[in-house]
Amino acid sequence: MARVVTTIEAVRARFTALQQPLAFFDGPGGTQVPDSVIDAIADYLRYSNANTDGPFGTSRRTDALLTKARLTAADFLNATVDEVAFGANMTTLNFALTRAASRDWRDGDEIVCTKLDHDGNIAPWLELAHDRGFVVKFAEVDDECRLDLDHLRSLLSDRTRVVAYPWAANSVGTATPVAEVAALAHEAGALAWVDAVHYGPHGPIDVQAVDADVLVCSPYKFYGPHLGLAFGKRQLLESWRPYKVRPADPFPVGHRYETGTLAHELLAGFVAAVEYLQDDVGWDFVLEHERTLGQQFLDGLPDAWRLHGIPELDGRVPTFAITHPTLSPEEAATRLGEQGFAVWHGNYYAVETMKRLELDDGAVRIGIVHYNTEDEVERLLEALSRLG
Ligand SMILES: Cc1ncc(COP(=O)(O)O)c(C=O)c1O
Repeated sequence: MARVVTTIEAVRARFTALQQPLAFFDGPGGTQVPDSVIDAIADYLRYSNANTDGPFGTSRRTDALLTKARLTAADFLNATVDEVAFGANMTTLNFALTRAASRDWRDGDEIVCTKLDHDGNIAPWLELAHDRGFVVKFAEVDDECRLDLDHLRSLLSDRTRVVAYPWAANSVGTATPVAEVAALAHEAGALAWVDAVHYGPHGPIDVQAVDADVLVCSPYKFYGPHLGLAFGKRQLLESWRPYKVRPADPFPVGHRYETGTLAHELLAGFVAAVEYLQDDVGWDFVLEHERTLGQQFLDGLPDAWRLHGIPELDGRVPTFAITHPTLSPEEAATRLGEQGFAVWHGNYYAVETMKRLELDDGAVRIGIVHYNTEDEVERLLEALSRLG
């Protein structure tokens, strides 16, 4: 496919939001959206706004949009239309799917999570453990926050029902060997339950290549609107009993897990976001540009700052957690905010990671995505240097 966006200038020209005097390093909390996404949302509301299955134009166009959104989601994840479901966000979908998946599990059944997970892939299991007597265990990470596969393996048993893990950690940026962990889970007879929320903007997702049983992500992290998207293998989604209202259509299968009326306008935005990312820009640009900027950040990080996590780009995405010996993460982020840099501080719901790193106040998180520039990274490094 001929790319229409091949330079950083062309990327940034697509986003009105990026014309403000603020350097957006807050992508892990949600990225900015290109104008084509905003236009798609507005156009749906202007010209096609309706509920589904009505015998009139706006409703017919809404049905067509839903079909297109499912096809787009299936293509984006390399799944089929029966295997995708939309929801309010990843967390809401995950609470619903975990509850449906575990309906016939027994007291004492086990779930293995990891210390790299966001709470959205932990709390649903903890709540089920609370209600149903399941046991949740946590796979360790090493001192550079790589997942400890030997430890993970040692936690598996014939009671393990699920291994829940992130494709990439939203706190320290570690990318996990996602297919290898899925294979370990499967050897133990467990499901591979992948949180791809943080990985979403950084690389292509292929659920078949990694053999995920369930995978959840959030389009608002990859240039789309605030929305959640889930994949589940067809035979699993068919075998579980969903919590759904009786008249809701049971097909496509994923729809059983979508309760109530979807945010149709956001589905229009989702389709436009995937078109922007996959067709207009393409993953080659994203991967190369993020790597250049990530390396620039690692090479230039002032000595006063400590990086928590993998000190090179292999095995990670360009999301960096840093701390300063005297400035708290909140103070540092606030001062950076005053100087025109959007960065997060705290634990970003990666509770177990921060406990493992003994960072009670969390860290400052610098999230680099494909629309950031070398100039922004340079200015950020100078600002970090001035802070300490
Ligand atoms: C890795 C990861 N998982 C899950 C979530 C929760 O996603 P959502 O806001 O779509 O519920 C986030 C949000 O930051 C995240 O970064």
